[in-house]
Amino acid sequence: MFDFSQLQCPVIQAPMAGGVNTPPLAAAVANAGGVGSFGFAYSSPEKISADLAATQALTAGHLNANFFVFQPVALPDVERQTAALAALRTLDLPEDLVLRVPQAPFYPELETLLLPVWQHRPAMLTFHFGIPSAVVMQHAKALGIAVGITATCLAEAKQIEAAGADFIVAQGIEAGGHRGTFEPDGADDGLPLDDLLRALVPSICLPIVAAGAVMDGADIHRVMRLGAAAAQMGTAFLCCDESGASPAHQAFIRHEHARGTAFTRGFSGRRAQGIANAFIAAMQDQPTLPFPIQNTLSGPIRQRATQRNDGEHQSLWAGTAYPKAQALPAASLMQRWGAELQACRRA
Ligand SMILES: Cc1cc2nc3c(=O)[nH]c(=O)nc-3n(C[C@H](O)[C@H](O)[C@H](O)COP(=O)(O)O)c2cc1C
Repeated sequence: MFDFSQLQCPVIQAPMAGGVNTPPLAAAVANAGGVGSFGFAYSSPEKISADLAATQALTAGHLNANFFVFQPVALPDVERQTAALAALRTLDLPEDLVLRVPQAPFYPELETLLLPVWQHRPAMLTFHFGIPSAVVMQHAKALGIAVGITATCLAEAKQIEAAGADFIVAQGIEAGGHRGTFEPDGADDGLPLDDLLRALVPSICLPIVAAGAVMDGADIHRVMRLGAAAAQMGTAFLCCDESGASPAHQAFIRHEHARGTAFTRGFSGRRAQGIANAFIAAMQDQPTLPFPIQNTLSGPIRQRATQRNDGEHQSLWAGTAYPKAQALPAASLMQRWGAELQACRRA
């Protein structure tokens, strides 16, 4: 079974669904002694199998396959559908762009997506938004795959521990992308990462991976001193040479530092953090459909914006520390952070 102390560099490159993770990125991180991840939430079984096979051809190192735990969802009434459509149509969109409310099924079946994982057996399997079924947990354990689940508060961490997971990904409010709360509309204390670690470390017996605005070796050192076994870093990899982030996403990360980040439900129906742009501003307080129906509904807007290199209408997921992201090969980033971590340890 996976042991964090085996890692030459205690870094999990974060799973980032939506094309950011690539085989060369995951392999470079794994070859540098970390864990290379894929966010497979919206992938097909064929794509999952192809990505894992392509990465395993480049590395014998540690890999992580990540999925969302989708909750059953029903289409709201026609009035709410019309309001959500009207909100999106107030955006400055191409005239020929067609928006349609999707019909069920609204998300893929987890059991089907996991078939290529059982075949390729990455070191880790992680989940966001909740705990998968006991059958899934047992299957992973039988194959020697370590299961990790995101927690944003102590109550979620305790549920994860009771469910028999192998580790917890503690997600601070600084983190880019979707907030991993179990309840999409529940209360959220919004704990910063260090406070979350201080709450979890004394009360949880599992290894804890720290996520949220960890950007360099000094940050990794800080979270490990607070008791983390490793750091999960997403935004820090968005501009590296092997990143699949769109050109506009990378340009905003590198140059649009005055904008800062904001949370929005406008893209997917769940709260997620990204660089403030025209879409987020226009969708503030506007009606949306539940996750992931809103995600499918807004899909054509994001796809067209990507084709037109329009950063104002893409989901530019990023953590609060995005101005610190560096455009280097992933191996160089890993080497630099490892050296910084060693220097902090010696100091
Ligand atoms: C572009 C992007 C996409 C993300 N997609 C996922 C995902 O598919 N699954 C997941 O568990 N976390 C996802 N996250 C959240 C990360 O796992 C992690 O919590 C976050 O990157 C940590 O904060 P940082 O971005 O400041 O490093 C995503 C983050 C970003 C920036």
